[in-house]
Amino acid sequence: MAAATITLTSVRKSYNGKQVVNGLSFRVEHGECFGLLGPNGAGKSTTARMVLGMASPDAGTITVLGEPVPVRARLARRRIGVVPQFDNLEPGFTVRENLQIFGRYFGMSAGEVEAVIPSLLEFAHLESKAHARVAELSGGMKRRLTIARALINDPQLLVMDEPATGLDPHARRLVWDRLRSLLARGKTILLTTHFMEEAERLCDRLCVIDKGRSIAEGAPHALIQEQIGSHVLEIYGGDSHELRALLEPYAQRTEVSGETLFCYAADLEQVRMQLCKRTGLRVLQRPANLEDVFLRLTGRDMKD
Ligand SMILES: Nc1ncnc2c1ncn2[C@@H]1O[C@H](COP(=O)(O)OP(=O)(O)OP(=O)(O)O)[C@@H](O)[C@H]1O
Ligand SMILES: [Mg+2]
Repeated sequence: MAAATITLTSVRKSYNGKQVVNGLSFRVEHGECFGLLGPNGAGKSTTARMVLGMASPDAGTITVLGEPVPVRARLARRRIGVVPQFDNLEPGFTVRENLQIFGRYFGMSAGEVEAVIPSLLEFAHLESKAHARVAELSGGMKRRLTIARALINDPQLLVMDEPATGLDPHARRLVWDRLRSLLARGKTILLTTHFMEEAERLCDRLCVIDKGRSIAEGAPHALIQEQIGSHVLEIYGGDSHELRALLEPYAQRTEVSGETLFCYAADLEQVRMQLCKRTGLRVLQRPANLEDVFLRLTGRDMKD
């Protein structure tokens, strides 16, 4: 088997005696977009930081671009573009200066940096802001700059921690398009996200983690089929517990969340027929999506 771009094997990490990554293993193949999904505090950013060698695992092994990490993380990082969860731009410097500083960090000459700046400004849609100080940019503009900055060294691998957070829908779609074209050029992406649409559109495979453990792994559509099925019925406006008792015999699975009853079944017509005589209900039938998978696996209730 060809060497994977990233391998994690039985990785553990604890902070202050609390296991935050608990025996996590996965492989990211060359040219693939691999997603890490999970609730707040699941251990996604900690995992991304360990892949980058910015946090050391307590146990287990990590290899990135053929280098053992963290021992040789420095070498691997020369070929990685990083988008941290929280922007770490230089606020007192301009957009252009931020790119120049970052290019120098990768050992690029002034000429090499100048040659790539126009395409990065275009990527981030920040051509008109090249001379603005970062402190004067909006949150979404800073995010776009952070994403563009990650490409300065033409990396083979991108490690992106919630790249689209804070972006408006236009900017988000622009970034998704750009990431898709990077994938088409053979780049590999490790992506953490809370946008299920992003994971569905971009990821070849993903891993759902909760409390530092992998609870499901696979291609988005395979996970949707396995965990949920093709369609979901959402019923709102009645006594959801009473409705649940009525519909349970006709559904594969039902779930109450707040005042909404969710029904999952191969044949939803049977379920719908039971509702014919009821009035005052709002019934929505829709295709199943990754959010259903996420909520099923991690629970519909908020975590701390
Ligand atoms: N440097 C640190 N010191 C102590 N605890 C930490 C540190 N970094 C992370 N943690 C803890 O590890 C757990 C996992 O955090 P992590 O940032 O990896 O979660 P996450 O999945 O990225 O969550 P989010 O979706 O909110 O970004 C949390 O309980 C967090 O408080
Ligand atoms: Mg995080």
